Amino acid sequence: MRLMTEILAIYPGSFDPITNGHLDLIERSSRIFEGLTVALLINPEKQPLFSLEERIEMARELTRGLANVSVDAFTGLLVDYATQRGAKVIVRGVRAFSDYEYEFQMALMNRKLAPALETIFLMPAENCTYVSSRLVKEIVRHGGNVRGLVPPLVEERLRQKVLATH
Ligand code: PNS
Repeated sequence: MRLMTEILAIYPGSFDPITNGHLDLIERSSRIFEGLTVALLINPEKQPLFSLEERIEMARELTRGLANVSVDAFTGLLVDYATQRGAKVIVRGVRAFSDYEYEFQMALMNRKLAPALETIFLMPAENCTYVSSRLVKEIVRHGGNVRGLVPPLVEERLRQKVLATH
């Protein structure tokens, strides 16, 4: 049997932008698995606030101190990407109960598509349970303060983005 520590895990998402909640999960996962790839979805149907390059750059910069964490992008099905990378685990975070339905459906669908892949859910730190990229963007758009919800680097990039679009 393989130990968890020998496993490569994938943490997929949009990360538009990466928040302290994401980073908390990345740190937790990096302590459990031998390797963790933060995988940003390239989704032509979605219009993200930050370009793929900007999101990758922020994620790389903020995970630089974690030797077993890498950042990558993928297109198509997550299970195909994970299988091709030789990953055995998909990591997702569950904050509130409201996340559960969507995550449950996705995990079971991914299991149907690729039974060998396992989805593992982690709970973020309590002070991150209400943080989401969507709310962070909304707050900044309306001139609110997101200190403590995202790293200072992301806070600055958000400010620049909002200034550029006004
Ligand atoms: O951070 P998000 O936007 O909630 O992440 C969603 C993500 C990227 C994990 C999900 O949309 C995904 O895996 N997309 C890739 C396409 C795919 O595999 N779809 C079938 C999911 S059952």
